[in-house]
Amino acid sequence: MSEKKELLEKYPYYDESLSVDLRVMLILNRLTLKEKFKLLSGKNFSWWTTKPIRHLNIKRMGMTDGPHGISFHSSFKKNTKFPCAKCLSATWNPTLAREYGVALAEEVRAVGRHILLAPGINIDRTPVNGRTFEYYSEDPYLTKEIAIPLVKGVQSKRVGACIKHYALNNQETNRRSVSVEIGERSLRELYLQAFEEVVKKADPWVVMGSYNKINGVHACENKELLRDILMDEWGFNGFIVTDWWATRKFKNPEKAIKAGLSLEMPQPSVYKIHRLRKAFRKKKFNLKDLDFVVERLLKVMIQVGLFDFEKVPEGKRNTDEHKKIARQIAEEGIILLKNQKNILPLNREKIKTIAIVGPNAQKKFGKIHYGGSAAVVAPYEITAYEGIKAKCGKTIKVTDNPAKADICLFIGGLNHSRGQDCENFDRPDLKLPDEQITQLLATIEQNKKTIVILINGSPITMSDWHSKVPAIIEAWYPGQEGGYAIADVLFGDVNPSGKLPITFPKKLSDSPAHKSERTYPGDEQVFYDEGIFVGYRHFDKEKIKPLYPFGFGLSYTQFALSNAKLSTYDLTDDELMKITLDIENVGKKAGSEVIQLYIGANDSKVPKPIKELIGFTKVTLEPGEKKQIEFTINEEVLNYYDGNADTWITEDGKYTLYAGNSSRDIYFTQEFNYKSSDT
Ligand code: BGC
Repeated sequence: MSEKKELLEKYPYYDESLSVDLRVMLILNRLTLKEKFKLLSGKNFSWWTTKPIRHLNIKRMGMTDGPHGISFHSSFKKNTKFPCAKCLSATWNPTLAREYGVALAEEVRAVGRHILLAPGINIDRTPVNGRTFEYYSEDPYLTKEIAIPLVKGVQSKRVGACIKHYALNNQETNRRSVSVEIGERSLRELYLQAFEEVVKKADPWVVMGSYNKINGVHACENKELLRDILMDEWGFNGFIVTDWWATRKFKNPEKAIKAGLSLEMPQPSVYKIHRLRKAFRKKKFNLKDLDFVVERLLKVMIQVGLFDFEKVPEGKRNTDEHKKIARQIAEEGIILLKNQKNILPLNREKIKTIAIVGPNAQKKFGKIHYGGSAAVVAPYEITAYEGIKAKCGKTIKVTDNPAKADICLFIGGLNHSRGQDCENFDRPDLKLPDEQITQLLATIEQNKKTIVILINGSPITMSDWHSKVPAIIEAWYPGQEGGYAIADVLFGDVNPSGKLPITFPKKLSDSPAHKSERTYPGDEQVFYDEGIFVGYRHFDKEKIKPLYPFGFGLSYTQFALSNAKLSTYDLTDDELMKITLDIENVGKKAGSEVIQLYIGANDSKVPKPIKELIGFTKVTLEPGEKKQIEFTINEEVLNYYDGNADTWITEDGKYTLYAGNSSRDIYFTQEFNYKSSDT
């Protein structure tokens, strides 16, 4: 008998021609009660895998962090270090996000794992959140536009994407204990929105429950959030895993089981076998409840290929293709914030000496657990200094003396130490570290042409030095190829096109969460009193001018928008509206622009944001080139969540469309009417 035939006879669920549901049933029917209990938690001291059940040939399913590449702490290997999540969302490029997803999955496979613990899609409520660099945006639309293709890319390689941290893990202070007190409307419209869209459109195989409580109930035993909303309402098909140790202090296994939690990681605590057995005997949960959570886990095990006779693709890591993707994300995510008198791009013909100074010029960021679970240790990292030095070649002298240079590059920002961009802690404020400000001011004294390049993953306030420098670049944590990308932008080989995915406030107290200790950081509870008015929604409403608005980013060329038209000025609920406009590159360099579409309600009965992002498109144009772009919308972009009626509502009335290249640079405004056909 062939090896395959023998295997199939013994373990019929290895038969790939059978439906997934049938294979799940075949496994489930062979599992004893104890084995089912066993599957519900990670293998002791392994940290990253489920438990094998040898006599049934059920292998371990392996997981690995995280959002910026495959971490060393979970894979024990050096892997491609991609730019941080904020840099990815700053590209506003969903196609690139998908390619990135494929690359990530290939690296997951190459380290022998099956699940990627990413992407993190929490909304940036406060810019001091220590994990801001791991998340995409303050806006749910941008978040989901990046996360959907990324998840699809990951899963196209039969690697499970685990979206996290569900839900409302918006601060690191007290993250394990704090209860987020939130109303139904902002929960649905803002904080759950990206999760809902990703679940519905990308079908992620895993969701990670967060550490915190939501309205008094821990996420991992929150039946309303897990069973009712995620599974029953949105149709989530995968399984729920805890954040690491999130359930350590839980007392009742039945509560977690009934909430739909399938896997406790990294090892058993509330799902210890004796606890489960006791609760089962006391009839706190029944076989149906148990099978419900086990089946989901088994299903994903099949999807990732754990029961495939033929081995699933081996994967690959640190390839040239992956480096190329890392570099492209950096190039497209870098943002030109300020460029007085077009001091940038640097003119090679005129510059003889460049000074490179600042704490991040030669800094490498890839150290084990540096900044937390998103840390990736790369085989190499091109620092900003190395990238710029290589670009200067033999023709431009590089010095560390600002006084003796034609131009000075101050490369600063943050790092991943505690209190900066780091898991487990929030930032105390938004300033650069004091000693860095002192160094920067001294540098400016020596050289008025000091350009600031920021390497960091969250907003920075700049009041001490902003007006004193002619140019500022936000480079984020640009990954292992980042130094080359920074040099390309500085010298104009890449025309910057990144746009801010988060508002940079002038001061922290301008941010909506920072009104009182009740709203941040709270104590046992934190109150989201600002409701839906987070990020630019808040700055618009309160008419506060941010330092740099959401969606902002300059280019070395200029674009003109014209000829905006709507296909209808009276929308109904069974209709699509097309919005067309022309965009022309009226400058002298080829470049890309992100045109953003926002909507506002003119006469709503409920408070609504002045504008909300509902579409964007990124266009690349040669000098003098003109293209028509088109957006299609329907009534769904007009709706809001009515917390009392527990449903989405679209009001009849007047709405306004805004198109521009940031939330504050609007070139086109147009009103239209909406009338539902039922009224
Ligand atoms: C983090 C998760 C991470 C997990 C495993 C937790 O501390 O919150 O994002 O995936 O650890 O490293």
